Amino acid sequence: MNMAEKKYILYLLDADKWASPFDINVAYDAGFDVVIPYGSVTAETIRTLVEDAMFSRGLDGAQRTKIFLNGSDLNVVRDMLKTARKSMVTPFDLSIFVDPRGGYTTGSAMVAQVEAYLNKIGKTSFEGLKVVVFGGTGPVGQVVSVLCAQNGAEVVLLSRRQEKAERIAGELKELYKVDLIPKANGDDPQRVETCKDADIIFTCGTAGIQLVSLNVLKQLPKNKILADVNAVPPLGIEGINVNKKNKEHPEVPGLYYHGALSVGSVKLKVEKKGLKALMTAEGKKTFDFVDFFDTARKVYAKKKAKKAEKQKA
Ligand SMILES: NC(=O)c1ccc[n+]([C@@H]2O[C@H](COP(=O)([O-])OP(=O)(O)OC[C@H]3O[C@@H](n4cnc5c(N)ncnc54)[C@H](OP(=O)(O)O)[C@@H]3O)[C@@H](O)[C@H]2O)c1
Repeated sequence: MNMAEKKYILYLLDADKWASPFDINVAYDAGFDVVIPYGSVTAETIRTLVEDAMFSRGLDGAQRTKIFLNGSDLNVVRDMLKTARKSMVTPFDLSIFVDPRGGYTTGSAMVAQVEAYLNKIGKTSFEGLKVVVFGGTGPVGQVVSVLCAQNGAEVVLLSRRQEKAERIAGELKELYKVDLIPKANGDDPQRVETCKDADIIFTCGTAGIQLVSLNVLKQLPKNKILADVNAVPPLGIEGINVNKKNKEHPEVPGLYYHGALSVGSVKLKVEKKGLKALMTAEGKKTFDFVDFFDTARKVYAKKKAKKAEKQKA
């Protein structure tokens, strides 16, 4: 290494108490020389952190100094992002990577995986499809809901509480101009009612919580796609294999599922590629789920091309 060259430094600023070891590892694997984690960062304290990171290394140093924003509460992370961007002084701007609790990369990868499956079964996009998102209020569920709506689906965003579903759908409408239908999960008969005319059911609930039981699945008409992001038993959807994708449900023929871990390697690829792009990004460039979805789509397109090539050979 040329000793005159400045190191690539990533400040991992987390609103939660501890910065995630997962993201620290991926950042090193992506090529950062140094990753510095801060926990319990707020929209107020982030200003000083950004200013000190920005002004201390000269222009060439600022170009190699990057920010990763994390935290379980998306509103806190959004406020941190706003303050961080406002605190920057051109030309010392720092590029920013936003992936709260892995939700942006995971949600993007899962939606891209389901889209690739739609293509495989002859549907060109989400246009005109009905999508139901259990756990639609969490980081993953919000991203899944917004991406599906932005790509033409009618989306029902579910929560245990109607008011919470309405609040989150309202926030997402203001931020991303998407119309989501807020609804409470309800009991099994209500879940059947919500899901019966859905084309795709995503379960994005917290780890270890089942949201769609066999009882519900057995009462649904055939030809639906199920996608779960909860890898901790009990899984979000009863009776599926966490590692499999594009598989028919073993107990309910006609329903095809994607297990939570089937998306893991693509999520990781998307995060690593994003962090590599962050290293060389210019100015205040902010990477979020729009970028990650684009990357995930490219990963699936490449997989498809590779498979076609193999079949030709
Ligand atoms: N494979 C990966 O790389 C990866 C990465 C990140 C996350 N994940 C997984 O993706 C899932 C979603 O992550 P997240 O961070 O978005 O989740 P989260 O914020 O922990 O939870 C999502 C939603 O689940 C609902 N929920 C919480 N407790 C519940 C309960 N007892 N019963 C029913 N619903 C409950 C809540 O919605 P309401 O309060 O509105 O009902 C909450 O907003 C998790 O299972 C997580 O482990 C996987």
